[in-house]
Formats: sequence, C-alpha cells, structure tokens
Amino acid sequence: MASYLVTGGAGFIGSHLAEELVRRGETVRVADSLITGKRRNLDHIPGVEFLEGDLADLPFAERAVAGMEYVLHQAAIPSVPRSVDDPITSNRANADATLNVLVAARDAGVKRLIFASSSSEYGNTPTLPKREDMPPSPLSPYALQKVMGTQYCQMFTQLYGFETVATRYFNVFGPRQDPSSAYSGVISVFATALSEGRRPTIFGDGEQTRDFTYVANVVDGVLRACEAPKAAGEVINVACGTRISLNQLLAVMNQIVGTRLEPIYKDERPGDVKDSQADITKARTLLGYTPSVDLEEGLRHTLAWCQGESSAAAAR
Ligand code: UD1
Repeated sequence: MASYLVTGGAGFIGSHLAEELVRRGETVRVADSLITGKRRNLDHIPGVEFLEGDLADLPFAERAVAGMEYVLHQAAIPSVPRSVDDPITSNRANADATLNVLVAARDAGVKRLIFASSSSEYGNTPTLPKREDMPPSPLSPYALQKVMGTQYCQMFTQLYGFETVATRYFNVFGPRQDPSSAYSGVISVFATALSEGRRPTIFGDGEQTRDFTYVANVVDGVLRACEAPKAAGEVINVACGTRISLNQLLAVMNQIVGTRLEPIYKDERPGDVKDSQADITKARTLLGYTPSVDLEEGLRHTLAWCQGESSAAAAR
C-alpha cells in the first residue's frame, strides 16, 4: 500500500484519481482550495483525508505533501477563457502553486510527482498529431502557465534528481465535470444543454477539432506514470490519438440522447486552438498505455450521468 496526495482531488479529474486509488486500497489525501473543486465530489469515496487550503501558500503545500510517497498535482483553474479574463488569479493557481508543490515535494522526499500538463501548450503549431518533442507555442495565459509547470517539472528532475512526469491531457471529459460556468469543458456544456432540451452554442464554425479523452483513460495513464521506470523527467501525451470536430461531436451526442438540437453559432473564442490531436506512441511505449474507453462509450457514460444529475436537480 502506498500513499498518494491528490492536489485538486475535489475537482473533476482529481476525484476520479482519488476514487480509483481508494478502490486499489491505497492511502489517499486530497488537498483542494474548493475554488473550482467541490467537497461533494468526494462524498462517495470512503477514507479520503481532506485538507482545504491554497497551495500558492507554501506552508499549506508543505503540510499537504508531508509523509506522502506520490503526488498527483492536478490542482488548477483549468480554463483557457478564464485565464484570458483574469491572468493573475489563473497564474497564482496554475504556476505559483505548482512551484510550491514541487519544492515542498522535493524537500519532503516524495518518490515521484505527476503533473497535469495540457494539450493547450502546443498552441496552433500546424503539425498533427502533436508529439511531445514539438516546441510549445502557448496562445493563452493558461497554456503559458502549463508550459511553465511542465518545464519546472523537467528542470526539477534534471537539476535536483527529483522524479517528475508531466502527463499531457487532451480535452478530458466524463462524469463530475462541472457544466455550470461559462468556462466549462464543451462536452459537459453540450451534455447539459441536450439533457434539458436546449440548443447548444458553438464558438466559431464548429470545424475546430479536439482529441476528446474519457477520464478513465487519463486515470489509467497517470497511475501508470507513477510506476513506469523510464518515465521520470518526461512529458507524455495521454489521449485517444483521434480527433473530431465540434459539429460532428454534437451530431454524435444528439444521436445518443435522441434529440436533434441545432447549434447556435457565435464568434470564435479568443485564444482558441484550431486543431488538436495527440500522438500517443510515447505513452504506449513508456507507460504501456492504451485508451480503453473510446469517445462514443465515454459520451454514453457522461450523458447518463448528466441526465441523472438533471433529474435529481428537478426533484429537489
Ligand atoms: C483547452 C485545452 C485543454 C485544457 C482545457 C482547460 C486545447 C486544445 N485544449 O481546451 O488541454 O485542459 O483547455 O479548459 O487547447 N466551445 C463551444 N461551445 C461551448 C464551449 C466550448 O463551441 O459551449 C468550443 C471552444 O471554443 C473550443 C472547444 O469547444 O473550440 C473546446 O473548448 P473547451 O472544452 O473549453 O476546451 P479547450 O479550450 O479546447
């Protein structure tokens, strides 16, 4: 049995990691500011130690990592448009906190830290699929902050011999992704709209593409990254290796729900990337990773969860 700190563990991806670790019988501590995370995301997971606080505050980061063998650093304000609107708050959560967690984890003798890197770091570089050795080209403060976190991780491995792995996520979706803000991930927003019979909004012409990745695949990739012998100091794409346009995505979702809701097209969002698709060769080679849940199956799980949430809300 090993001990894991999941920062941002009350959030979407973090709570799925905590759930799987508990299922495997590991010891789990969660540190979360509850700015975007929700305490109720952990209600169904027994035995998780919960610390509420801000990791941009170094003493809190030190308390959070104390005695832990692995740190899964997922805490972030995970939104491109929110970082465009408020880069200072976003930088504090995504960059300042990351450096604190790295320093605290290194000093506490943590075995390995896994950092939630982002496909947004690639920006609009024309080559597809995106390979980890391509230079970063951030288009938003969020992407720049993630580049900084990734590079700090690599530097901590080179400079101090502290083992880190940057798992680079591509548009993760699934149950518990919060659909309620203007900054929410597109699948959670579309799922809620279709469940409530509303027309979804598409920013731009809907021909932008993404490598949407179901959360269970990400959990698998991250937990493999904790153990994989040759992963230290690496950046590794964790995705499906496919891409689909928003127009096609909406068509698939309409089909699953049994609706025919047409989108309302609005202006493209500033800082938006045109196309995104991962090359997952490195994850296959270094982690033995294969995406086990494809887009359609992931959408079915997500839509079923979303419909359950809508009926629960209606009954309240
Ligand atoms: C980006 C990053 C991703 C990061 C995430 C954090 C890329 C390729 N991906 O995702 O790695 O983790 O931010 O938030 O940069 N859209 C609509 N209607 C909506 C909502 C969104 O059309 O109601 C569009 C957006 O304009 C965008 C696409 O859907 O073109 C996906 O948006 P979103 O889910 O917010 O994620 P990204 O910004 O791609």
